[in-house]
Amino acid sequence: VVQPVREDKFSFGLWTVGWRAVDPFGDATRPALDAVEAVHRLSELGAWGITFHDDDLIPFGSGDSAREQQIKRFRAALDDTGLVVPMATTNLFSHPVFKDGALTSNSRDVRRFALRKVLRNVDLAAELGARTYVLWGGREGSETDAAKDVRAALDRYREGIDTIAQYVLDQGYDLRLALEPKPNEPRGDIFLPTIGHALAFISQLEHHELVGVNPETGHEQMAGLNFVHGIGQALWQGKLFHIDLNGQRGPRYDQDLIFGHGDLLSAFFLVDLLEHGGYDGPRHFDYKPLRTEDIDGVWASAAANMRSYLLLRERARAFRADPRVQEALEASRLPELAQPTLAPGESPADLKADRSAFEDFDPEAAGRRGYGFAALSQLAFEHLVGGA
Ligand code: GCO
Ligand code: MN
Ligand code: MN
Ligand code: MN
Repeated sequence: VVQPVREDKFSFGLWTVGWRAVDPFGDATRPALDAVEAVHRLSELGAWGITFHDDDLIPFGSGDSAREQQIKRFRAALDDTGLVVPMATTNLFSHPVFKDGALTSNSRDVRRFALRKVLRNVDLAAELGARTYVLWGGREGSETDAAKDVRAALDRYREGIDTIAQYVLDQGYDLRLALEPKPNEPRGDIFLPTIGHALAFISQLEHHELVGVNPETGHEQMAGLNFVHGIGQALWQGKLFHIDLNGQRGPRYDQDLIFGHGDLLSAFFLVDLLEHGGYDGPRHFDYKPLRTEDIDGVWASAAANMRSYLLLRERARAFRADPRVQEALEASRLPELAQPTLAPGESPADLKADRSAFEDFDPEAAGRRGYGFAALSQLAFEHLVGGA
């Protein structure tokens, strides 16, 4: 039951298993991983898809023939294994040219270069059959508020995203854009720091229908926010186009732990939400194998992400199927929340005329009501640890 299959739609960034573990304090602890090798190993482990930044696959500055050659090798590996490319993205953060941002750099020439870099890789994404194009603006932001006019920066951000969306439409690509929020790291403050900021920004876009979000577990948790609630709202707005699953332990640097190895209860409720909330997109892992691991540890950690998800899915299903849980949900009045507050056709005037809603309502009695959430959440906990 914990053997992943293609239908589970597990995907991995090439930069995750391929991370050589360079951190701000130390050198790489692992050799480079060839993209073709990554495709084969992930396929053997039962993954469904692989994703990449342009520069993960084709080193920055490669000539055209080297680029074509590498795409050919990669494509052959995909054909050999049946692995798909559900998503691609652009590296707009590693090269020094992007040190003050890409789509929102103060330098207009840098912004134009960044856009060209995106469009070039959008072509490749479409060619490889990707359906989602992610934009994580890691360098869009500042360390000092003197350095940016946020309103001008957001104008340029909107211009950039709308230009990319217009290009997708002009080319007739079957591709949607997904913005990935993050509060900080590598910039002191990143624009579109949370799911909420990103959703609000999207509402201001010309091509808003083409743009959704790619939230990452750890990023919301770095901001001290509830990831399950953020995902709930993204789903509610029809904007959960993609998701980056991983683990994080509270507000600190971006840990990118294995999924479930951070806030485990939150991971349980997240899987429950994704499985029962109608999300049928990729289950994409954006994690980093620990710096202590050799290549065997890399593959063990890749497998661990999928196993964690599958085990949590099994526990979530058992939780939903348990009659005691159904009873506890009733006792907690969960089904009542799905009921509209007003009756069909009821107007504000009708509500005002309803004495039972106010004059005859007993707030003291309602205030004494227990909701039974302690029992309900303990049932979830017991299912989670296999003790139910
Ligand atoms: C991070 C981000 C990135 C993005 C990636 C895809 O490092 O904090 O999560 O890993 O997900 O650039 O856009
Ligand atoms: Mn991260
Ligand atoms: Mn991510
Ligand atoms: Mn990441």
